Amino acid sequence: MQICSLMVVLSSLFFFGCGGDSSDDNKEIPNDIETDFPQIEPLPEPILKITDISDGYYGLLYDAGGNELKINKNQVLLLQDGLINELNSNLNEEQRAMFKELHSNFTDIKLPTDIEKVLFQNVLLDAMISSIKPQLQDKYFPPFRLFRHHTHSLFPISRLTDYQWILDLLSQRSLLSHLILIPPQETDNYIDTCRENDVPIPPDWGSTLWQYRGVATIDFLENDKTEVWAYESSTVQGSCIALPRWDIRPEEGINEISLLGIICQSKTTGKACFWDNLSKETGQRIKGGADLTFKISDIKNGNSLGENCTQCHRGKNVFLIHPETNLDISDDYNINPNVRYQPISTQANWSNPAAHSELGDGACASCHEIGALSGGYCNILRNAANQTMPPQPEDPANWDGATAFYGAHIQQMINDGCPE
Ligand code: HEC
Ligand code: HEC
Repeated sequence: MQICSLMVVLSSLFFFGCGGDSSDDNKEIPNDIETDFPQIEPLPEPILKITDISDGYYGLLYDAGGNELKINKNQVLLLQDGLINELNSNLNEEQRAMFKELHSNFTDIKLPTDIEKVLFQNVLLDAMISSIKPQLQDKYFPPFRLFRHHTHSLFPISRLTDYQWILDLLSQRSLLSHLILIPPQETDNYIDTCRENDVPIPPDWGSTLWQYRGVATIDFLENDKTEVWAYESSTVQGSCIALPRWDIRPEEGINEISLLGIICQSKTTGKACFWDNLSKETGQRIKGGADLTFKISDIKNGNSLGENCTQCHRGKNVFLIHPETNLDISDDYNINPNVRYQPISTQANWSNPAAHSELGDGACASCHEIGALSGGYCNILRNAANQTMPPQPEDPANWDGATAFYGAHIQQMINDGCPE
């Protein structure tokens, strides 16, 4: 017990080895600190746990009895460690090992600062809680969300991109969705900005204004089922596409829309706006079946999304269309802007940089420009060359460069930075 407490304090690297056996451990930790390590700031009494938090408003936290709970900067990492230990005992061995490995990856990359630790451990906790039994999630999520929100004011982060290495690590593990953006200080005026730029505003999800266009026959991201929905405004030229990506696992009783990105593009200005089914308030995915509904104003948008949609959505128009499939709505909708597309976002790294190959500048650019290269976009180019491009009735060019006509241009993309 002594050794475990010591490790918890000295290095969060090791706490996994100590956790999970008994919740009594957590209660004793702070006492040990006070007696053994007087140099560490004494913790106020009574020692609290994240699960003690019951309510929060106007920046203050309260327990179930309505007493204010004061959490200062020094306590945040300890409270996180305590909850990580507690959650470990609710995970199976495989999950524990997975999170432990993720955590050591995090500390292996570089020695994290406190703010980086807090940010990362919040993501870890969010992912851990999402992995425990649903009944238990209801016990942990509400206090954790209040706690997490509180840590944003103690450890303010102005730009997530200052922590790109953490974003990269999370993105490799598909954990970006567990990252909650700091709520913007001023009120969110994204929809107003889109409207001012003549971008059509999408109807709320569940509205009959959305037209069902069928199931996507090609999905580079390989979801269980991907539907295509479209919307056209009667007054603003352009179109919106929504892409519900379903998660279907009958053995586990799961059949739901897990991801639902929405993009709208203006015909006249070429500006495009982005939304994703992440709750603005909690950062959680808003999932559900065919009866799923949510308001556009309640979900994260191009100003607040952690995932950078423009890594992949680039080129002359914002959309990534597989021609001759349901995704190709160009017969009925206007998807080609008069002006080359630009994203609406206050985030510095959201952009549609100059083309890699302008229209006419290379074999693949015979029909459309090839957008600026990025990791995500290169994957799409590779998938396209292997599956969809050039469009039928021709055969796919193949990324291996074997086709005489397209090979040289594909080799040029590889030389310029796409992985082979
Ligand atoms: C890693 C690359 C990648 C990123 C990042 C990405 N997308 Fe996509 N997106 C695609 C691909 C590829 C398609 C085409 C359908 C398919 O094959 O899955 C697509 C299609 C879509 C569509 C349907 C319309 C179209 O362009 O075909 C919407 C809407 C969409 N994405 C929204 C988003 C939003 C919102 C974000 C940011 C939160 C985002 N996407 C980020 C790769 C990406
Ligand atoms: C004969 C015309 C033509 C040629 C040649 C062509 N494309 Fe396309 N490509 C299209 C059309 C049409 C679309 C869909 C609509 C749009 O966005 O313009 C498209 C879409 C794409 C997309 C978006 C999504 C998807 O399904 O792939 C990518 C990426 C792409 N092309 C890459 C390539 C690459 C790489 C090559 C060279 C191997 C290539 N294209 C050659 C006509 C062409």
